[in-house]
Amino acid sequence: MFPVNSRYRVLFVCLGNICRSPAAEIIFRKQVTDAGRVDEFEIDSAGTIGHHQGAPPDSRMSESLRQKGFTIAGRSRQIQLEDLETFDLIVTMDESNLSDVLRLDETGTRHGKVRPFVSYCRHHDDLRVPDPYYGGQRGFDHVIRMLEDGCEGILESLKGR
Ligand code: 4NP
Repeated sequence: MFPVNSRYRVLFVCLGNICRSPAAEIIFRKQVTDAGRVDEFEIDSAGTIGHHQGAPPDSRMSESLRQKGFTIAGRSRQIQLEDLETFDLIVTMDESNLSDVLRLDETGTRHGKVRPFVSYCRHHDDLRVPDPYYGGQRGFDHVIRMLEDGCEGILESLKGR
């Protein structure tokens, strides 16, 4: 286990920080808690836009998560340049989030910390975590299954660090 003062910091990023990335944060936190590893991590999420600043997770995403036994928490915030300094791993949901985050760091020195979420999925071969915002409830359920898959992959990849 990491000492408390050297927790590994993981930041999930999507566009609005009300659907995909807060769900990833909630799911990953539950997985690390269930694995008895909660003291090893600091987990957060952010959006590339500030449009929903301060808003709780989307009600449709929250409903799908609650049905699966997750506890809803978090408020939307926009990613800042300093997040690239603070966090050890920054996981983006789609190509647009990835390029927006990379563009924040003009020097490129932190680009190595930024990874696409789908690269951690072991049971989905989607090229991105699809944006469920304009779709129906089934889209949210699909996203949650992908997030559970990729979060397991992230946790596995960080074993024994
Ligand atoms: P998210 O979903 O990026 O997964 O939080 C969206 C949230 C808001 C908007 C688009 C996608 N929007 O256009 O406001």
